[in-house]
Order: sequence, then structure tokens, then C-alpha cells
Amino acid sequence: MSLLTLPSLADPHVHLREPGSENKEDFFTGTCAALAGGYTALLDMPNNPQPTISQLALEEKRNLAATKIVCDVGFNFGALPDNLAEYAAIAPKVAGLKAYLGETHGPLVFGGLTEIMEVFAAWPPAPEYAGKPILIHAEGQMVAAVIGLAALYDRKIHICHLSKKSELNLVRAAKARGFKVTCEVAPHHLFLTYEDAAPGSLGPYGKMSPALQNSTDVDALWQGLVEGSIDMVATDHAPHTCAEKESDKPPFGVPGLETAFGLLYRAACQQRSGLTVARLLEVMAYAPRRVFGLPPNAGEFEIDPKEEYTFTNTGLFTKCAWTPFAGMKGRGRIRQVRLRGAVVFEDGQVLAAPGSGKILF
Ligand code: NCD
Ligand code: ZN
Ligand code: ZN
Ligand code: ZN
Repeated sequence: MSLLTLPSLADPHVHLREPGSENKEDFFTGTCAALAGGYTALLDMPNNPQPTISQLALEEKRNLAATKIVCDVGFNFGALPDNLAEYAAIAPKVAGLKAYLGETHGPLVFGGLTEIMEVFAAWPPAPEYAGKPILIHAEGQMVAAVIGLAALYDRKIHICHLSKKSELNLVRAAKARGFKVTCEVAPHHLFLTYEDAAPGSLGPYGKMSPALQNSTDVDALWQGLVEGSIDMVATDHAPHTCAEKESDKPPFGVPGLETAFGLLYRAACQQRSGLTVARLLEVMAYAPRRVFGLPPNAGEFEIDPKEEYTFTNTGLFTKCAWTPFAGMKGRGRIRQVRLRGAVVFEDGQVLAAPGSGKILF
């Protein structure tokens, strides 16, 4: 068996859940899941029960993470119309500013035009942070609105979890105009449709925000990913417990760190929509680091390029212990991950010590 060595992956969109939702995930289990999936760098999202919307909350998060992480982790800060005064202090310590706009959910959501314009005007707080984007959770017309604001204010925006052909067409047009717009797609929007979320199929385990779309959207996303309109893959790793998913009000979100590489690598081997291994490495390793200004990659991982396997709900490192891709096939089993010269994962075991990961920024 000959192994293949690849540069380690980076995921710009994960919910590590600490502090406040350690029943779903914590800094140790989430970063273990990352290593098992070939990732050595993650960007964490601010939508904790006590959201990351103040300098104090950011410091608390950084201190908690520092003793637990086994791969490198950076943070995004939560935008609200009333925390603009915090931006100057936190800008050096984050990857970007995350804005939850319009019809999503949770305490971080806002959507009035005046409020959104205030956030665009206030970020970045100084020209030296102009490389740090505003990350946008938005769908439909709101995507058009933020692209318009990015152009008017000359701001860098990154659109999270693109799910629809119409949104992709907006991004294509914005890029053709030279606007500073990048975007990501999540594996669940590439490999699943709304039909997979039917009762009797995934049911509540197929509920996420944005929702799963139809096969026309899925085909368009594949085309966008391969042609370059979509800059990168982000898992939007959003673990929730099985009990929560099976409750009367199942929360939105699915885990993704341990399944993304196998799904994409298998698709590249099949040349799905023309995907190549080189393009896979661009969208899963190089582009996230470049767009978010992460340090040069200090990791690599070894796979068995021929081995196909079936995803299951057993043996996962994520605390939620399930995957929406159970029963689907992956390829290229990850045998070893190295970070800064040390073997941090090997044959199903995490070898890195808690706290050996670095805080980015
Ligand atoms: C995310 C979560 O659970 O935190 N859920 C999701 O469905 N994507 C929140 C988010 O990214 O919108
Ligand atoms: Zn989101
Ligand atoms: Zn959401
Ligand atoms: Zn998310």
C-alpha cells in the first residue's frame, strides 16, 4: 500500500460550542474531530449562548481554548449594531467579523438596513485590518443587499454556506465586477438535497440553516466550486446532540469535520463535475488560509488513496456522535496527521496533548 501525503486542511467555519454548549462539543473534542478529518486549522464562530460580542467574551474564549485545543484555532467576532465600539480592540485578535443577517435564528440576528449599514461603516475599525472580511450569514435577497453594500462601502465580504444557484449567480456577477467578495460551500449542500431530509430519511438530522436545496442548486454549486466562483469548502460543523435533534423543536445544524475530506476526495477521484485533487486542495487547504490571512500551513496528512469506506455513526470524535452522511461512501482514509513536525493523529488515535494547538491571531 502506498500512501499519499497532502497539505493539511483548514476550515473557516466551525462551531466548537464552548463556552455554554459543552453538551454538544468542546474545544478538545471538536479539535480532535478536526485532526481525524485532516484539518489542522479552524475558525470558530461566535454564536455561543453568551455570544462572542465583547472583548471580555473573546478573551474568555481564547483562555478556555488555549489549554484544550489539539489543532490551531482562530476566532470570528459577532457583529451587532450596538457593539461597534468593541471593534478597535478585538480586530487584531480575530479572523473576521461575523454578521447573522435576516431570517436566521438566535440572539445574534439583526437585519434593519440602518443597522447593517452601521456595521459596514464600522468594520474594519482601521485600514490595517482591511484584509479581515465581514462574514455573512444570509440567504436570498439579503445576499444581493450585502454585495451592494460591499461595493458601496468598498468592504471585503465573505458569504458563508452558499446553498442556491441564484446566490451563486449573484457572486459570479459581483466577482466579474471586481467586488471584494468571496464565498464558501458546505459539504451537506454538495452531497444532499431536501429529499434526504424527508421523514424516514434524515428527518431532523437533515435540518440545517440554510436548508438543503434541490438538485438544480446542487449541480450549480458543483459547477461553481470547480470553475472557481466558489472559493472554498467550509464544513459549518454545527454539532447538536441526538436528544436535541429528536426533540419537538430540533435545532438547525449538522457536524462535518470528520466526513468532508473523504466525501470530497472520493468525488475528486470520480472527477465529479470535473473536480480534481489539485482543486480540492485549493478549496480545502490553500484558499481558506489565504483569504483569512492564516499563517503558512505547518501541517500535512497521509492518506491511503485507494481505500474506500462507509461513514457510520460509530467511532467519531465529535461529541454529538452522529453524521448526516452515515451510509455514504468516502475515500482516502486518513492514516496520519502531522503538525509542526509532530505526529498528532495516527490510525484512529489523537496523539496531540490538549493545549498543543495554537491560537491564531
Ligand atoms: C449553526 C449552529 O448550529 O450554530 N447552525 C446551522 O444550521 N448552520 C448556526 C449557523 O451557522 O447558522
Ligand atoms: Zn450560518
Ligand atoms: Zn444559523
Ligand atoms: Zn455556522
